[in-house]
Amino acid sequence: MNSTLNFLGIQLDYSEEVFRPTLISENCAKLTDFRDKSILDLGCGIGPLAIYFAKNGARKVSACDIFEKHLEYTEKNARLNEVKIEIFKSDLFSNVKEKYDVICCDVSGVDKNVAEMTGWFPEEVPKADETGSNLIIKVVEEAKKYLKKSGILNIATTSFSDVVSIERDISKNFLISEVLIKIDVPFSRRLKKNVKLLDEKSYKKIDDEYFWEFKLFKCSN
Ligand SMILES: C[S@@+](CC[C@H](N)C(=O)[O-])C[C@H]1O[C@@H](n2cnc3c(N)ncnc32)[C@H](O)[C@@H]1O
Repeated sequence: MNSTLNFLGIQLDYSEEVFRPTLISENCAKLTDFRDKSILDLGCGIGPLAIYFAKNGARKVSACDIFEKHLEYTEKNARLNEVKIEIFKSDLFSNVKEKYDVICCDVSGVDKNVAEMTGWFPEEVPKADETGSNLIIKVVEEAKKYLKKSGILNIATTSFSDVVSIERDISKNFLISEVLIKIDVPFSRRLKKNVKLLDEKSYKKIDDEYFWEFKLFKCSN
């Protein structure tokens, strides 16, 4: 069954089979400097970021994802919101042909087991591996080839991934990196119930509350 959600003032169609925008998506949208820039939304889901960028003054927007259903929804949602976006299927950068001012990437970055346990990722949505970081690391290693000289990669991570390896890789591949935002997100009831199955490094406990962490990195050379 199809329903509609509101993402920062934009109406988006979705169904149970697709990934729905999150707090991470909202922060990527609000903290990315995209106005008058060409931008690639890598791992676009149903299109929240790409449509937000296109509606709010990006010069050119491309959006890609590996999952056909997400591309169908991004196309439908771009039409509904009357924005022009280039939409294509790509396994990370495999079909990316251009260089961009900005790449904004909220690709699957959660340990596969957590992604399944929380229900954040519907069954068919492609997930990261058990480290949670394999896709993000590939993006960090390849992004430079698809960025203009002073281009910027904004990339989201969660504590349900090997953030230490990701941070090491960011420093190896980019001269400058900063954390645009870091948020401690309270556990959902479902996560709390399954806390014993989680790696202790992936969360913190303050008083009786559990939190996982989300970070948005800005990387440039
Ligand atoms: C966490 S969701 C975020 C979706 C969207 N950016 C949002 O904010 O709602 C991760 C996205 O990465 C996509 N993805 C997973 N593996 C991918 C790959 N190898 N290449 C491209 N996209 C991929 C998924 O299909 C999903 O749309």
